[in-house]
Amino acid sequence: MQPRAVVTGVGHFLPARVVPNSEFESTLETSDEWIRTRSGIERRHFAAEDETTSTMATAAARTAMDRAGCGPQDIDAIILATSTADYTFPSAATMVQSELGITQGFAFDVQAVCAGFVYALSNANALIVSGQARRVLVIGAETFSRIMDWTDRSTCVLFGDGAGALVLEAQDGTGTSDDRGILATDLHSDGRYRDLLYVDGGVSTRTTGYLRMQGNQVFRHAIEKLTATAETALEKAGLTSADVDWIVPHQANIRIIKGTAKKMGVGMDRVVVTVQDHGNTSAASIPLALSVGCERGQIKPGDLLVTEAIGGGLAWGSVILRW
Ligand code: UT7
Repeated sequence: MQPRAVVTGVGHFLPARVVPNSEFESTLETSDEWIRTRSGIERRHFAAEDETTSTMATAAARTAMDRAGCGPQDIDAIILATSTADYTFPSAATMVQSELGITQGFAFDVQAVCAGFVYALSNANALIVSGQARRVLVIGAETFSRIMDWTDRSTCVLFGDGAGALVLEAQDGTGTSDDRGILATDLHSDGRYRDLLYVDGGVSTRTTGYLRMQGNQVFRHAIEKLTATAETALEKAGLTSADVDWIVPHQANIRIIKGTAKKMGVGMDRVVVTVQDHGNTSAASIPLALSVGCERGQIKPGDLLVTEAIGGGLAWGSVILRW
């Protein structure tokens, strides 16, 4: 017997406002054609004035909990992956906790930018496997529209807002790769690359800031590091890319998604792609893709999934799970 962290519910929330690429053409020297061909993005959702990371996270979590058939009394821990929390403190996770009427357990945020959701999943898995929690709500939620420099065409056309959530529950497995749940995780960071993607402001420097990115430099690292972490995680699980039913990648750029799948030897018919509709939603992109992939009928119970992500830090990683 081995405890496994099994997904029992998934949900997502997207703000109502959809912004097509063409909307940027009036204010920036850019075009729908450039954005589509360089990134694969066609549109993205932007939060309304009264929508924040915690309100979107709460909505996504409610759906995931409904689908998991659990109520506020059933959740032992909440981990929210975000770089755009409502406040400096308390954590957005504790705000979600109170909105959901959860008064037991503990809640905290994880900040690993676009890799945040794989970091959160790995932490949730550790809590469950070590017996510290039985049911963990794992959320990725971001409001990147609030940290965009609207005069910088090289970044502001790429990002979007949204949230996705999973309920992970402890179940007994056999210890083999046939088990449902998280089978392996692999995390990395290398702060020498912190200047490639960052926000030029923050609390302890008494500033506010905007997202800055040397996109082509991040791109150079992405395919190689994502392939390596996915293959390492598969190996830890005793599996190979031939066993993969779906890659559910971080949705930053269709060229990175395709390049990584190709390097892993996985056809694009086995990759969940949402970047065209959501843009880059940072830590929200993988749980959004998991939820949308289920609604489309792509991801089915028993499927073997690889999630992988890279972002600011640089921080990157991969999680292998059987749905
Ligand atoms: O999610 C976290 C991790 N982030 C990523 O994974 C992002 C990784 N990077 C990328 O996705 C791509 O590098 C971008 C989509 C950001 C850019 O694509 P690229 O093919 O790497 O283009 P580039 O940055 O090398 O820029 C090419 C040209 C430049 O012009 P010059 O210097 O060649 O004259 C840019 O100024 O495209 C120009 N450019 C634009 N042109 C029209 C940059 N942004 C735009 C724009 N519209 N919005």
